[in-house]
Amino acid sequence: MSTLLDRIGLLYTGDPEREEIEDAAIVVEDGRVVWTGTAGADPGADERVDVGGRCVIPGFVDSHAHLVFAGDRTAEFTARMSGEPYTAGGIRTTVAATRAAGDALLAERTAALVTEMLAQGTTTVEIKSGYGLTVEDERRSLEIARRFTRETTYLGAHVVPPDAPSADDYVRMVTGEMLEACAPYARWVDVFCERGAFDADQTREILLAGTKAGLLPRIHANQLGNGPGAQIAAEMGAASADHCTHLTDEDVSALSSAGVVATLLPGAEFSTRSPYPDARRLLDAGVTVALATDCNPGSSFTSSMPFCLALAVREMRMTPLEAVRAATYGGAMALRRDDVGTLRVGARADLVILDAPSYVHLAYRPGVPLAAQVWKEGHRLV
Ligand code: NIG
Ligand code: FE
Repeated sequence: MSTLLDRIGLLYTGDPEREEIEDAAIVVEDGRVVWTGTAGADPGADERVDVGGRCVIPGFVDSHAHLVFAGDRTAEFTARMSGEPYTAGGIRTTVAATRAAGDALLAERTAALVTEMLAQGTTTVEIKSGYGLTVEDERRSLEIARRFTRETTYLGAHVVPPDAPSADDYVRMVTGEMLEACAPYARWVDVFCERGAFDADQTREILLAGTKAGLLPRIHANQLGNGPGAQIAAEMGAASADHCTHLTDEDVSALSSAGVVATLLPGAEFSTRSPYPDARRLLDAGVTVALATDCNPGSSFTSSMPFCLALAVREMRMTPLEAVRAATYGGAMALRRDDVGTLRVGARADLVILDAPSYVHLAYRPGVPLAAQVWKEGHRLV
């Protein structure tokens, strides 16, 4: 069964070879894109959908999210908005609530966030553990995450929990028993490399242990201050260094020469009232930039890629084209995926029909729900 999406006013393909096509059409079959080109020149299909001149983009690839948690940090947010700084200390509040929650509740809340994301055009999401911080709570967090995505990330190294005998003991567990329990459910290993979380040696040790267990490294790097995270990402060949809010010139060139994607998370700067990362500097240095939500109850409780894209354009000097690219193709690069994030022939038919003539409206009309239809693997889900 093939479907022709006809009369697309503007197709953003995400494919660097032919990024935009005006007056376009796409044919999808068996969940994949089989043809793209100018409307009227299509090879025909079993059914036809009239897109009515609207814009079509690939489904968003949200490559950084913390969705398995319970509890609420409204009070912390309110205090922050009246001047309290963000310290990441609140992670422990969520850890306590997550440990106390049953599997069914955690799964239900994760499902609700994934549904929220889909409604806004996100068709691929990465989900991290990191609010369990015991062997069993990390394992079940990943087992739940796995029900929703194959992009699961073991973040046992989020912070040292208050009940750990010592930081060294905790790192031993993260690289030992906890890793063994979690590795079967994870594709990635991540460390929060930051003052107050894990230092350079601990980060290297944890990522190396993860790599030996078959996981691929990524890092929470340089979020709250300068630090070694971006350099370690480059040195270890991580797919992505995430946050990248405080970078030196050396950090930028290390990311650029190692081909590490810089994943920027402007929802976190918005919700913690912090200065935004300098996307222009990274782009000008040739670094591939991804945009993601960082959806989590503490520093960025948004599930909205369009919101992050609008922030990137307004606050981070990205052009609308650079922002939509970072939210699709960039996210796919951050997850080392070539089957999502673009609508080139052979890619998954994951796409969004925007209620707008151009992707520019994602930034131009902030806060407006523009995802008129969301398709995943050739099927309309929204
Ligand atoms: O990516 N920085 C570390 N982890 C999350 C925040 C976690 C929290 O505050 O609950 C982040 O921003
Ligand atoms: Fe994060």
